Amino acid sequence: MSRKEGKLYGIGVGPGDPDLITIKAVRILKSVSVIFAASSTKNDYSLARNIISKHAPEAKVETLPFPMDNDRVVLQKAWEENAKIVLKALSDRGDVAFVTLGDPMTYSTFSYLLKTVRSIESQTKVEIIPGITSYQAAASVANIPLVHGDQSLVVVSGAKGGAKLPQTLKIVDNVVILKTYKYFDQIYETLEDLDLLDQSTFFSRLGLPGEEIIRNVTTLKSATPSYLSLIIVNRKTNENQENK
Ligand SMILES: C[S@@+](CC[C@H](N)C(=O)[O-])C[C@H]1O[C@@H](n2cnc3c(N)ncnc32)[C@H](O)[C@@H]1O
Repeated sequence: MSRKEGKLYGIGVGPGDPDLITIKAVRILKSVSVIFAASSTKNDYSLARNIISKHAPEAKVETLPFPMDNDRVVLQKAWEENAKIVLKALSDRGDVAFVTLGDPMTYSTFSYLLKTVRSIESQTKVEIIPGITSYQAAASVANIPLVHGDQSLVVVSGAKGGAKLPQTLKIVDNVVILKTYKYFDQIYETLEDLDLLDQSTFFSRLGLPGEEIIRNVTTLKSATPSYLSLIIVNRKTNENQENK
């Protein structure tokens, strides 16, 4: 087989609702020779694959297993193995896509894959198609402005708990906390200590069956939310009040 040296597309497919995907993403998904999607190492389920099935039902989708692990050695091994699979496909089959939930450059497996691909083949052609992030969808569905006036916004990961939140909230107005599932209790306690529970909104499974929007976060004390959950802290500054 001749070498094709295709382009790697990193494609954001939005947070869940298949209609929240760009026209450009759909066009490219229909044109590539293969679409890769991340799965866990335990099974080959991929939400991103489900989302695109409406738009590219005939597409060939292959899952790449990425471990949910904090061990750098285990992770590096998986990134390298998967990067080599992608590089081989680029060489043998031409253009390929990697689909990712939300946006590919926002807390996404794609950024690690891209870094590893480029560390092996620095000249790899790449194009990234942005996606609607989970927190943009959340803000829209709940009519919560993420920022206005001269407000500031920070997006943080709750994957290691809420320890950094008090410091962050000293200097910014509004905060989006992604990955709230693992240390939800800790994040909840931090928001409680900062007296911010009534200015927080919880979202789960946006655009998917079982979607939840909870404005009274106190009902979630001791809850164990799904992986697909986030919190928006929208502080009641004078400006927020005026715009209500
Ligand atoms: C690895 S990050 C991926 C972020 C994604 N790239 C984005 O642009 O939103 C996974 C986190 O995104 C959030 N998330 C993604 N999709 C979501 C959805 N449909 N509903 C609620 N939260 C979601 C959750 O906080 C989840 O733990």
